[in-house]
Amino acid sequence: MTANGEDTIGLATVGLTKSFGGVHAVDGASVAFHHGKVNALIGPNGSGKTTFFNCVTGMIKPDAGSASYRGRDITGKAPHRIARAGIGRSFQLCRIFPRMTVLENMLVSVHSPTLFARLASARHHGDMERARELLARVGIDHLENTEARDLSYGQQKLLELAGVLMADPETIMLDEPAGGVNPALIDRIGSLVRSLNAEGRTFLIVEHNMDMVMSLSDHVVVFDRGRPIAEGTPDEVQNDPRVLEAYLGV
Ligand SMILES: Nc1ncnc2c1ncn2[C@@H]1O[C@H](COP(=O)(O)OP(=O)(O)O)[C@@H](O)[C@H]1O
Ligand SMILES: [Mg+2]
Repeated sequence: MTANGEDTIGLATVGLTKSFGGVHAVDGASVAFHHGKVNALIGPNGSGKTTFFNCVTGMIKPDAGSASYRGRDITGKAPHRIARAGIGRSFQLCRIFPRMTVLENMLVSVHSPTLFARLASARHHGDMERARELLARVGIDHLENTEARDLSYGQQKLLELAGVLMADPETIMLDEPAGGVNPALIDRIGSLVRSLNAEGRTFLIVEHNMDMVMSLSDHVVVFDRGRPIAEGTPDEVQNDPRVLEAYLGV
């Protein structure tokens, strides 16, 4: 938000394109997300949401088009440079080290070019204290010495979110945070998103749980076949015939 209450643009793309063989996973997508808000990206399976995330966070290079963050070009930059620009992300399938403890996972989660650099830097900056604070915030501090593989799937998602927060990102991208998670932990993830947003963090969330999307989001973008087909408030997109068509084929 600017001083006069207008939206500012956070993450944005112009003509972003990525194909795998003949599959146009992201197909000329031009989209802008609002800084300071909870933004959702929804769409049928295979509509390119994860590929979009991977392109804008540097995990894969787009074939064409551009991505920017708060006006600065981030197209094709390495993941750690995009992280340094202020963007953190989680993965659709949790990315944690199963045989490390919860606390160890926190200490290696800060994005650096190499694992070695992450371990070396963990010894410096009071990271241990911060890791414990964040584990408490997501409600799994009592599990700090448990191996990550022994956590429930929902607890692993909470660990991943806490790990993302280690880098203190101003924008957080979550890929299906509620997928496979039990209802009690879905509620906890929802409250965390709300409180983190109230503290000024921007969210971009890919999620299939429509109750969660519609109750949390300020702005919803709907993807179909690799590009946005509709956007607006939760109410607006729920009543948009193009959205019903994409989901239901009616
Ligand atoms: N690494 C890959 N190799 C080949 N095809 C892929 C790859 N990643 C995604 N795709 C294809 O791209 C399309 C979009 O996939 P994805 O981005 O995962 O969609 P969503 O996250 O919306 O379900 C799908 O047809 C998928 O099969
Ligand atoms: Mg996906």
